[in-house]
Amino acid sequence: MATILLGVTGGIAAYKAIDTVRALRREGHDVHVVMTRAARRFVGAASFAALSGNRVGSEAFTDDGRPDYRHLELARAADVMLVAPASANTIGRMAAGLAEDLLTTCYLAFTGPVVVAPAMNTRMWEHAATRANIVTLVARGVHIVPPGEGLLADGDVGAGRLAETEQIVAAVATRLRGQSPPWAGRRVLVTAGGTREPIDAVRYVGNRSSGRMGMAVANAACERGADVTVIAANVDLPRRNDVTYVDVETAAELLDATTAAFADTDLLVMAAAVADYRPTSTSPGKLDKSASDRLAMTLEPTVDILGSLAAGRRNQIVVGFAAEHGAAGVERARQKRRRKHLDAIVYNDISVAGIGFESDDNAITIIGPGDAEQIVPRSSKARCAEYILDAVAPVFAEYSR
Ligand code: CTP
Repeated sequence: MATILLGVTGGIAAYKAIDTVRALRREGHDVHVVMTRAARRFVGAASFAALSGNRVGSEAFTDDGRPDYRHLELARAADVMLVAPASANTIGRMAAGLAEDLLTTCYLAFTGPVVVAPAMNTRMWEHAATRANIVTLVARGVHIVPPGEGLLADGDVGAGRLAETEQIVAAVATRLRGQSPPWAGRRVLVTAGGTREPIDAVRYVGNRSSGRMGMAVANAACERGADVTVIAANVDLPRRNDVTYVDVETAAELLDATTAAFADTDLLVMAAAVADYRPTSTSPGKLDKSASDRLAMTLEPTVDILGSLAAGRRNQIVVGFAAEHGAAGVERARQKRRRKHLDAIVYNDISVAGIGFESDDNAITIIGPGDAEQIVPRSSKARCAEYILDAVAPVFAEYSR
């Protein structure tokens, strides 16, 4: 049995913390709840007191004006501090180190592992300030249980819904076992975008990949605490300062950069659309169209980067993508996973309008170890990225380095 200090913050999801208390109690833990003032506007302290069997703390001072040392003692005694749901406001105060109420005071006084399960409106979750605060907490070793996606209380649809109780309780269990957040310190290499193979000084053979899917995987891995490098092939998207980017243009440059970084990588996600063929020669300057009325170009195959790296790997996880046309594509993707010796392959059907290339959304099927299939219906690429990382996370356990 462990002692859990549960911080509950203001938001419509505050009522779900009741379920969390129940689940933690079922596991045999002693739960002590601290609520923010805003949380008490959503749920009564009496519910938490009744379910936890302990007094609920809220103010930093007792009714007669003395500092409430009792909960600070608790902060010293607790094995894990869990904040669920964590509002944007509380996350911001935790990141800034402000201690204006009992919850944030406990956070500063607490030296053990902290688990935070955010819940908020999707635009607040995606705001640069919240992103930066999450990155700060992750860098400090806080275990973030990412919010789910769906219809939010205010009618918006997107990421921000409190994670399921089982996920939150599992994260607490991980920390109680003394394990780090599963992605902390993992080195993740992502290729993103589409290569361009020069025909002459101004023209190229290219493809429509924007790099959104790869960048979403990189962002998600970074927010889980991984050390992330992106090999970006012609990607014109916002960048963050806690990810390393290496810019490349051609398949040959992508091969060199990816091969160089791969030795130090725990997980490679090969989301880039790499040209399968490139012109055998590049004309210097600009081809002159008056020179002839027909132009024939000879193409030669490029190196299969994914296949060659997967073949020579050691205890490294390798994920490929398969953009296929039509329903028979799943089977082709399944075969591609086996042929290229991948841990997982992410299949998307490029014949479906409005998803995939150049879109913010995707609909994917993840074919993982043992051909286990996970279908992710149309979702944001950010959400798809979370599913991809979840699919490979169990393999980390097998590959303890
Ligand atoms: N890929 C790669 N190097 C290449 C071409 C593709 O690493 N020269 C990677 C892509 O990043 C993607 C995966 O391989 O993760 C699947 O690419 P795809 O072109 O669909 O696979 P192919 O090997 O070309 O298979 P097919 O025979 O079906 O064309």
